[in-house]
Amino acid sequence: MPRPEIDLFQKTFRTTPRAAASAPGRVNLIGEHTDYNGGPVLPIAIAQRTSAAIGPAATDEPGVLEAISTRDLSLVRLKWQEELPRSWAAYIGGVLRELWALDAISPDTSARVAVASDVPIGAGLSSSAALSVAAAKAFAPALTPRQIAGVAYRAEHDHVGVPCGMMDQTISALGKRDHALLFECASLHTAQIPFKARLLLVDTGKRHDLATGRLKERRAECDEAVQRLKVELPELVWLASWPAGWLPRLKRALPEPLRSRAVHVVSETARTRFAAELLQQKKLKQFGHLLYESHESCRRLYDCSSPELDTVVAAAKRAGAWGARLTGAGWGGAAIVLVGKSDKKTIPAIERAYKRAYGRVPPITEVNAATGARPERV
Ligand code: GLA
Repeated sequence: MPRPEIDLFQKTFRTTPRAAASAPGRVNLIGEHTDYNGGPVLPIAIAQRTSAAIGPAATDEPGVLEAISTRDLSLVRLKWQEELPRSWAAYIGGVLRELWALDAISPDTSARVAVASDVPIGAGLSSSAALSVAAAKAFAPALTPRQIAGVAYRAEHDHVGVPCGMMDQTISALGKRDHALLFECASLHTAQIPFKARLLLVDTGKRHDLATGRLKERRAECDEAVQRLKVELPELVWLASWPAGWLPRLKRALPEPLRSRAVHVVSETARTRFAAELLQQKKLKQFGHLLYESHESCRRLYDCSSPELDTVVAAAKRAGAWGARLTGAGWGGAAIVLVGKSDKKTIPAIERAYKRAYGRVPPITEVNAATGARPERV
C-alpha cells in the first residue's frame, strides 16, 4: 500500500515519523442542520481518508508546528499557542491546543506533521474533520474515540472558528464498517445501525465556499428562533426539542424566515429518528422516501440547496431511485442517491439531465460505510 504521508514526511524532514493515524470523510444519510440544534444525525464514514504522520520538531524552541500536505507541498510553520494563521494547518494547531487542555501533550510540544488525503475539499464530505481527527489520533492514540471527536470539534469550532456542529468529527472518530451512526447531539447518545445498501455519491463540482457564511447565518436564525420560542416554552434549550406535535403553535410564534428554518429543524428531527427505525428494520425503500422529503425541506424551508443539487435529485426521482438528497451543509457539494441493487437506469438518467443543464457529466461513485479513525503503522 502506498503511504504518501510517510514518504512526504521523510522527504521533507529527512527523518522517519514517530507515529501516524488516519481518519475518514463522511456522508450524512439524513438529519441536516440538526446537529447544532440538538437534534439527531445519521452519517456514515466513507472510504476516502486523510492520513497524518507526525514526529518531534528538530528545534529547541517550544510550541512550534511545522506542517506540510501533499495537496500543495508548501511547508507551514506556526506557533500553536499564538494566534493561528488562516491556513489548513490551523486545524492541527487547534488540535494541539485541545490536547494540551486535556494534558495529553505538554505545552512545550514542538512537532512536524505531513498530511495526505483523498477526501475532496469543499464537496461537503468533511475534509476538515478528517484532518482534525487524524491529527488528534496520531498525537494521542490512547484517547477514546469520543475524546478524539471532542478534541477535533473544539479545534474547529473554538480555535478555527467554523460554526459547525459535532456530527462530522463524531462520525470520523466513531465510524464503523457497514454501519450508520445515529448520533443524538443533545444527549450525545449514539447507536450503530447496520447499513448495507447501494448508495451513489454525485459530486456537483460546485464548491461550497460560501457555506461557512451561510452556516453562520442559519445558526443565528436558529438561536433567535429559540429565544422567541422560550416565551411559549421557557425550558426550551435546543430548537430540535420543540415537540413536533406543536408545529401550529411554533408557526404562530415565529415570523419568516425564522418560521421556515424552525419547521425544517423540528420536522427533520422527527424524520431522522423515523428513518433510523426504518433502517433498523431494513425497510430501505421507505427509508429512501424520507431522503426525498429531507431534500425538499432543505431546499424549500432551510434554503440550503443549489440548482445543481436539485437537478440531481429530480433526475434520480424520475428514474425511480429509492431516495436522494443533498448531503452536508449544502449550497453546493455532493448529493447522495439510494438505489436498488439491480438499478441500471439512475446513473445514466442523472448523467443525461446534468449534461443537458450544465454541459458536463458529474463524477458518480458508489460509497460504503467505512471504519473511523485508526492508528497506522510507521
Ligand atoms: C456542516 C457542519 C456540520 C452540520 C452540517 C449540516 O457539515 O460541519 O456540523 O451542521 O453542516 O447538517
